[in-house]
Amino acid sequence: MAQHYELSVRGAEGRRYPVLVGEGLLESRLPRFVAEGGFSRVAVVTNETVAPLYGEALCERIPGAALIVVPDGEQYKTLDTVRTIYDALLAHGADRSTLVVALGGGVIGDMAGFAAATFMRGVPLVQAPTTLLAMVDASIGGKVGVDLPQGKNLAGAFKDPLAVFADVTTLHTLPVDEQQCGMAEVIKTGLIGDADLFARLGNHAPDRTEMIARAAAIKADIVGRDRLEGGLRAVLNLGHTFAHALEQASGYAWKHGHAVAVGLMAAARLSERMGLSDGGLADAVERTLERWMLPTRFSGCTPDALWEAMRHDKKWQGGSARFVLLEGVGRPVIRADVPRDDVLAVLEELREDA
Ligand SMILES: NC(=O)c1ccc[n+]([C@@H]2O[C@H](COP(=O)([O-])OP(=O)(O)OC[C@H]3O[C@@H](n4cnc5c(N)ncnc54)[C@H](O)[C@@H]3O)[C@@H](O)[C@H]2O)c1
Ligand SMILES: [Zn+2]
Repeated sequence: MAQHYELSVRGAEGRRYPVLVGEGLLESRLPRFVAEGGFSRVAVVTNETVAPLYGEALCERIPGAALIVVPDGEQYKTLDTVRTIYDALLAHGADRSTLVVALGGGVIGDMAGFAAATFMRGVPLVQAPTTLLAMVDASIGGKVGVDLPQGKNLAGAFKDPLAVFADVTTLHTLPVDEQQCGMAEVIKTGLIGDADLFARLGNHAPDRTEMIARAAAIKADIVGRDRLEGGLRAVLNLGHTFAHALEQASGYAWKHGHAVAVGLMAAARLSERMGLSDGGLADAVERTLERWMLPTRFSGCTPDALWEAMRHDKKWQGGSARFVLLEGVGRPVIRADVPRDDVLAVLEELREDA
């Protein structure tokens, strides 16, 4: 019997929902959950890539389920695509007790979740993440939304799922670069909240199901204590100020997870430079990133360009340089007083084409 993990996340008004991590959940546990739920109808929302891999098979196990397929890609995480989901729901006779199952990566989770949050003022939602990033990050915490032409994730809502089913067997078909990008978030999560996980990621490959469950547990714990992002939840942005700047300054030539890897490197170096953590942290981060074939240096843009991009980060309220830094592994701190010169010096060190 394959190993299964079950966590519990604290959502709105203290209500809890389970996150299941294990093999074969799409075959048995999810269909059973749906059958026992008493929903009027079920709509599985997925994309053109995931539909033939897992969507069609899942619908065969849920009597009467409708399969709603949208195009694949972040560029389709839009209100226009949400409208096509509403249209399909109506065409299938959906009502207020229709269950939406979001089957796919973070793009589908965010967009189908947003459709579920808004269709008829909200219908029940189950998240069925099929990427590593979605399993450890996007499917947990209730944030859903779409991009606007002006920027990413600018329209959204908080919508807790009834449950999250992370079937790790789906990762067998996930492209290698998507696996890597997910690993950057797993390493980030270890750095924020699980020193033992971080140490094991550096020394040897932990059991994948256990690793995902542990990373998901850290995210679940943090969002459970700060559902609406009052403060604590900001530690999840470790490495992300740099990452967003790098993505933006490179015209999105950098994939998010790769940019996060360099961002983790920058956060560790900055933490050492500011005397917050002992020497050795940045070396440990570098070794771990390299072990998972993730980048630790950037090229293609200048430190000044990155600084300019950071200044416009929406999380830098009032323009003060707000960074998540580390006092050590598992000990994140938020600092609003990071000197520009220190940031530029660290970026200069991490620049490959200087
Ligand atoms: N809501 C949140 O809290 C939160 C947190 C982090 C990220 N996000 C969002 O998540 C999105 C990124 O998610 P992502 O990295 O999962 O990208 P993604 O959803 O675009 O998936 C990456 C690619 O993998 C494909 N794919 C998915 N599952 C597969 C499988 N099992 N086998 C083969 N191919 C598969 C997808 O079709 C896609 O081409 C972004 O839009 C981001 O804003 C949301
Ligand atoms: Zn991220």
